[in-house]
Amino acid sequence: MITISVIVGSTRQGRFSERPAQWILEHLRKRGGIEARLLDLRDFPMPFFDQAASPATPGRAPYEHEVVKRWTAAIAASDGFVFVTPEYNYGPSAVLKNAIDWVYPEWNRKAAAFVSYGSAMGARSVQQLRETAIELQIAPVRSAVHIPVATLWAHFRGGDVDKGLAELETQAQTMIDDLLWWTTALKTARERNSRTEKGKLMRPLSRIARRTRGQSHGPITRLMSPSDFGRLLKPFVFLDLFDTQAKPFTGLGLHPHSGIATLTYVAEGSVSYEDTNGATGVLPAGGLEWMRAGGGVWHGGGAGEQGRTRGFQLWIALPPELELGPSESVYLGPERIPNDGPARVLLGSYGTATSGIKAPSPMNYLAVRLKAGERWSYQPPTEHTVLWTAVGMGSVLVPDELQQGELVAFSPSSAAIEFEAQFDAEFVLGSAVPHDRDLVLGSHSVHTSTEALREAEARISAIQTRLIQQGRL
Ligand SMILES: Cc1cc2nc3c(=O)[nH]c(=O)nc-3n(C[C@H](O)[C@H](O)[C@H](O)COP(=O)(O)O)c2cc1C
Repeated sequence: MITISVIVGSTRQGRFSERPAQWILEHLRKRGGIEARLLDLRDFPMPFFDQAASPATPGRAPYEHEVVKRWTAAIAASDGFVFVTPEYNYGPSAVLKNAIDWVYPEWNRKAAAFVSYGSAMGARSVQQLRETAIELQIAPVRSAVHIPVATLWAHFRGGDVDKGLAELETQAQTMIDDLLWWTTALKTARERNSRTEKGKLMRPLSRIARRTRGQSHGPITRLMSPSDFGRLLKPFVFLDLFDTQAKPFTGLGLHPHSGIATLTYVAEGSVSYEDTNGATGVLPAGGLEWMRAGGGVWHGGGAGEQGRTRGFQLWIALPPELELGPSESVYLGPERIPNDGPARVLLGSYGTATSGIKAPSPMNYLAVRLKAGERWSYQPPTEHTVLWTAVGMGSVLVPDELQQGELVAFSPSSAAIEFEAQFDAEFVLGSAVPHDRDLVLGSHSVHTSTEALREAEARISAIQTRLIQQGRL
């Protein structure tokens, strides 16, 4: 399935832009096998580009502006574009050029077509956009739709715009044919995991935006928390790497959570668990504990048996419809975790494997083991512009070296990551559609609003009273 976005190039009051944009969108929607979307720049009120680093700067930190993030994610999620552009003083509108300038890697190696209008049918605006497109590594297709002045005037004078557009049917179909051919070809090429004879990669790869070794407290290293990486990587908000050699590691006694789900993956050794839904047991290596806290739950756990215990605990922010919902606990032994090659699918799906746990929002979370010298690549779904990885054992090249105990966040994009193990290695990897809500933090909770946090805290207190009465606290 390819995704084509139609970009409405004017935000002016009384604009014409949305008429041809809707018209071309309807034509696209009549084609099979594609998803057509409208990106109206009125929905993306971005400031004029004001950052120190240009979008094309390798390894730059992601931009913080919420609208820019949404716009970047929308471009990343698209495979091809139709720019519906007016002509303002011989070129495209400033608002369109600014929106183009905010983004770089997410435009790369995709196709674009143009629908234009103005006194010279917008031809000069398209001419300038084609030059800009080449700089952005967008492939501009030859065919275009240039709307005659009479149809533009019909818009301003209350005439029959639809009739004027209907006369451009042939041009529209030819342009769409061309755009879909190039979009499909480029998408196939982007996804192909092939190399040239010289070993140079043929597809764009995800670039590291930030890396960390986190903060260690005894056997637990906090690699991600909402005040730092979690802000960039929502819905993923906390990641703890635990690594303990032997008892006494009692772990944490019963403690509360709300608004989040935790996924504990045992890479080595075993982990004991207990929760207020009545479950208790020991998870062996390769197993996982899923605990969707919803509006409030208490759980606890620690190392299961003597010897080394190693793994990751991930926290995921729940969307508003689940943050006060019922809690759910799932414990899966290693035999119940599906895999595609070296990747074990803890959440979401990859290749032929789909996790038995329902993720609260679109995301993948994988645990991957590679032997020294082995290569593996991950191609995120196009909407997954949040992407990170953390190494639990050994070291990998992506192509920069990542060592045991490191976490990296990649620049927002859905480009692939190529892994090569330098030594026998194990890492976890998360990709997701960004969580676009604020994070409101409590001591054991993450919610999207203060009201939701207060309600969950009241429920947590009620469970606490019950646990005290039962003599469990
Ligand atoms: C600031 C400005 C500059 C313009 N310059 C040109 C121009 O150079 N060539 C042209 O053909 N039309 C020009 N026009 C006319 C626009 O093409 C026409 O107003 C069109 O409706 C604008 O698109 P919109 O209604 O979607 O904003 C200009 C309009 C504005 C507002």
